[in-house]
Amino acid sequence: MAEAGLRLERAAPRPLAGEANAQAPVRPVVGEKIRIERGGRLLLSVEEIVVGRPGITAIMGPNGAGKTLLLRCLAGLKVPDSGLVSWAGLPPDRARALRLGFVFQKPVLLRRSALANLVYALKAAGLSGGEARRRAQAALEAARLADLARSPARLLSGGEQQRLALARALSLDPDILFLDEPTASLDPSSTAAIEAMVGKAAARGTACILISHDIGQARRLADEVIFMAEGHIAERAPASRFFDAPASPEARAYLGGEILVRDGSWNSEEGKR
Ligand SMILES: Nc1ncnc2c1ncn2[C@@H]1O[C@H](COP(=O)(O)OP(=O)(O)OP(=O)(O)O)[C@@H](O)[C@H]1O
Ligand SMILES: [Mg+2]
Repeated sequence: MAEAGLRLERAAPRPLAGEANAQAPVRPVVGEKIRIERGGRLLLSVEEIVVGRPGITAIMGPNGAGKTLLLRCLAGLKVPDSGLVSWAGLPPDRARALRLGFVFQKPVLLRRSALANLVYALKAAGLSGGEARRRAQAALEAARLADLARSPARLLSGGEQQRLALARALSLDPDILFLDEPTASLDPSSTAAIEAMVGKAAARGTACILISHDIGQARRLADEVIFMAEGHIAERAPASRFFDAPASPEARAYLGGEILVRDGSWNSEEGKR
């Protein structure tokens, strides 16, 4: 796999930002031998990961397991200390980043109306004003935000802001949608709205990579689960198998509600006896 990635890289030189065709494929997204270290501490160490099949992949694991770091590396937002990330065999580039969508726990919105936030993003992606406005309106309707089109985005409720951020990410019909705990601070009804939007995107063929601590949510949505602990991937399995019979001790402990303490041992009921 590493060989293939390197060979492709040599055969096709990295395009300069803005020069590559934004319609060029980004899937599969591959990470090989990715490592991040800080102050002698290994924060992320992943031998190989391949994502990008249509459907929903949940990334789960305790706080500090390296989920966000891995997602940011795959999305091209962070360069690992060592290792290789490739999109369809080539290094990440800005033009093809338009084929990806991002939603974070805290929505990042501009100080303008909900509609203008969408129009801005669509124009920045190269759409004409008319087409951007048409798509923005459609995206607001799909997110059930049409009534709030003229409201300042930053005055919307947390759930509405998150729906807007997701609508913006989906408005360009991304091949891959990266979601980092998108419903962490939302109530059940807003969570359901976000889940419905993600489910529809997956059904249309978008590969959704969803970090979540919400076991119910992962059960409802995920086709497969990647479970991380202490910077590495402990397990990857189809969701039904993962939840019925997790193979790794780390996942078993997590699903059982146990807590990983700092020295790496499991603070389980058994351990207390
Ligand atoms: N820039 C950084 N410098 C130093 N340490 C960092 C940096 N970014 C992340 N870390 C550390 O790396 C580890 C993994 O962080 P990461 O944010 O990926 O965890 P996570 O699995 O997403 O956790 P959570 O569920 O809390 O969001 C954590 O211990 C964090 O403190
Ligand atoms: Mg995180």
